Amino acid sequence: MDGNGRWAKQRMQPRAFGHRAGVKSARKILRAAHKAGVRYLTVFAFSQENWKRPELEVRLLMKLFVSTLVREAQSLHKNSVRLRFIGDHGDFSAELREQMDKAVELTATNTGLQLQVAVGYGGQWDIVQAARRVAAAGREITAEALEAQLDTSGIPSPDLLIRTGGESRISNFLLWQLAYTELYFCDTLWPEFGDTEFSAALSWFADRERRFGRVAEQA
Ligand code: IPE
Ligand code: MG
Repeated sequence: MDGNGRWAKQRMQPRAFGHRAGVKSARKILRAAHKAGVRYLTVFAFSQENWKRPELEVRLLMKLFVSTLVREAQSLHKNSVRLRFIGDHGDFSAELREQMDKAVELTATNTGLQLQVAVGYGGQWDIVQAARRVAAAGREITAEALEAQLDTSGIPSPDLLIRTGGESRISNFLLWQLAYTELYFCDTLWPEFGDTEFSAALSWFADRERRFGRVAEQA
C-alpha cells in the first residue's frame, strides 16, 4: 500500500494526512475484495525496514494502528472477517500487541474473508525464522517443512500481488510465497486506489495464463 506520503505532499499536507487517507483506502479495498469473492487478502502495512523512518512518523503509524484496530475490530467481526497478523511484533508496544491479540481472538472462528495484516514484517525474516524452527525441531530442511513454519502457514500463496505508488519492487514482502504470484504494479498512489483501480487489477489478472513452469497446452 505505497504512496501515502507522496499523496499528502501533493496536497501540501503532512505525511500523517496521507497515512490516515491510506486507512480509508484499505477499508474500501477490503470491501471491494469481499465483493469480488476474494478469500484471502494480505496487506503490507509496515515493514521491518520502516522502523528506520523518522521517529515521529513511526510513532504516528503505531498510534494509527492502535486507533484503527480499536475502531474497526467489531465491524470486521460483524462482517465475518478473520483477522491475523504476520511479522515480528517484538518491538511493538504492549498496548498495540494487546489490541492485536484481542482482535485476532475476537475474529478467530470467522469464516469470511481471511485478512492478514503484515506489520513489522520482512520476507527474509520470515524465511529465517521458519528455518530456525525447522532446525530447532531437528527436522530436515525441505520446502514443505519450511513452508509449514512461515508466518503465513495455512494461508495459500497469493495469486495476485498489487503494488501501488509506481515502484516495481517487492521490498521484502512475501519473498517465499510470491514464487508464482502474478505481479501487478500501478502508478496510482494508495489513497487514490479505489474500486475502479482494483477492478482494473483483477481484469489484468484474469487475462494471465498461469503455467507454473509447464507449457501452454498443459496449463
Ligand atoms: C506507504 O506509504 C505506507 C507505509 C509504508 C506505512 P509511504 O509512506 O511509503 O508513502 P510514500 O512512498 O512516501 O509516498
Ligand atoms: Mg513508500
